[in-house]
Amino acid sequence: MDDLKFREEPCAEDVGRVARLLSRTRFFTAEEEEIGASLVTERLREGARWGYLFLFAESQDTFVGYTCYGPIPGTLDGYDLYWIAVDPDSQRGGFGRQLLAATERKVLELGGKRLYAETSSTAQYQPTRSFYERNGFFLEGRLADYYAPADDKMLYTKILVR
Ligand SMILES: CC(C)(COP(=O)(O)OP(=O)(O)OC[C@H]1O[C@@H](n2cnc3c(N)ncnc32)[C@H](O)[C@@H]1OP(=O)(O)O)[C@@H](O)C(=O)NCCC(=O)NCCS
Repeated sequence: MDDLKFREEPCAEDVGRVARLLSRTRFFTAEEEEIGASLVTERLREGARWGYLFLFAESQDTFVGYTCYGPIPGTLDGYDLYWIAVDPDSQRGGFGRQLLAATERKVLELGGKRLYAETSSTAQYQPTRSFYERNGFFLEGRLADYYAPADDKMLYTKILVR
């Protein structure tokens, strides 16, 4: 398995890279793709103080995935994992696990102790739920019919330890 290189500072090209990546996963609606890419644009405009942080992962100089995360306002040490995505051509090779581990290290460095992730209860998201469960998250809550009828919001928590 290749080791990934991580980069925190976004550049202008990352807007298109993130949009393409989200589209290629076929997991997100057009609106979600636009939101994901616009967060990179905003981060470029506002800087790191804005509260949305990124880790871009490259394998052999190719962009293969990223996370977007940040502190949850009003909490002592809670962080949200807003987005995690790995290019379909590179999935199931351990990149998601490496990306998550690197993100957790950053959160710990910043003083975060709890990491939250949300996903859907539908069959399409079974791999995503397996990914969280295999990586130390536990299901802490479930909001019935949150996204749509029979499409619940699944709230996962991971307690971070050094
Ligand atoms: C979730 C995601 C980031 C995982 O990335 P990845 O590089 O494929 O993950 P890894 O190879 O590190 O997998 C780690 C573990 O997660 C689980 N997992 C990952 N993909 C899985 C799949 N398709 N089916 C079942 N389990 C899966 C497995 O337990 C796997 O460990 P194993 O291969 O030893 O069994 C990736 O599948 C993805 O981008 N999905 C689409 C976008 C998404 O759902 N994002 C999260 C919501 S924002």
